[in-house]
Amino acid sequence: MEILVTGANRGIGAALLDGYAALGIPAMGTSRDGAVGLKLDVTDPGSISELGRHYAEHRLDLLVCNAAVFLDRGRSLEELVAEDWARTMAVNVTGVAETVRVLLPALRRGSGSKIAIISSQMASQERARGGSYVYRASKAAVLNFGRNLAQDLRGEGIAVGTYHPGWVRTEMGGPDAELSGSEAAEGLIARFEALDMSLTGCFETWDGRDHPL
Ligand SMILES: NC(=O)c1ccc[n+]([C@@H]2O[C@H](COP(=O)([O-])OP(=O)(O)OC[C@H]3O[C@@H](n4cnc5c(N)ncnc54)[C@H](OP(=O)(O)O)[C@@H]3O)[C@@H](O)[C@H]2O)c1
Repeated sequence: MEILVTGANRGIGAALLDGYAALGIPAMGTSRDGAVGLKLDVTDPGSISELGRHYAEHRLDLLVCNAAVFLDRGRSLEELVAEDWARTMAVNVTGVAETVRVLLPALRRGSGSKIAIISSQMASQERARGGSYVYRASKAAVLNFGRNLAQDLRGEGIAVGTYHPGWVRTEMGGPDAELSGSEAAEGLIARFEALDMSLTGCFETWDGRDHPL
């Protein structure tokens, strides 16, 4: 089983690598400086192309698009500048789509291949609680991408799931969050395992509940 997790040098990505290691399943990660796994900045076209070249001869069975930023935490609309939108969308939306694009050939060579997109409960339109406009919009966009991608890859037997990982004690989640990285990772790994063509297009929580869209 060939697994790749983006943004795996810290936070939930690192916890996912640790979780797979504890199960005896080797998983590859990425980091921006190359200190962990493959070097990847999802906003850098050269870096994206290099990732595609790395997998040119390989297969991939599970791609976890985890890397993201949350630049507008606690900032009002008046405090935001256009650059906050551009940078966030570049990482959280375009970065995911570009990663999937260059890895599709490797996923097509895999068996029962799956794409897991880490979004957030803040993607939900039904639970629009206000604030964090930039991050919420980016996570809603990547949820939309995941659900439409699921339709387009259905015929090829590649399943796509989008996930809320829980509120997790990482740099992004902060120290007061409910879950440890390992608790979130354990749940997510089980959800990735469960993902199949009957669940493709899902938006699920780390503990297996359907999340309101
Ligand atoms: N923590 C939570 O409570 C929570 C809740 C809902 C959803 N999520 C989602 O869960 C995922 C992981 O979050 P986390 O809490 O682990 O966040 P985190 O601790 O802030 O880690 C983010 C990871 O993304 C990487 N990254 C950022 N920009 C990148 C870029 N341009 N190219 C490649 N990698 C990049 C970071 O690398 P550097 O170290 O180089 O910056 C880091 O490895 C994200 O998608 C997040 O939106 C988290």
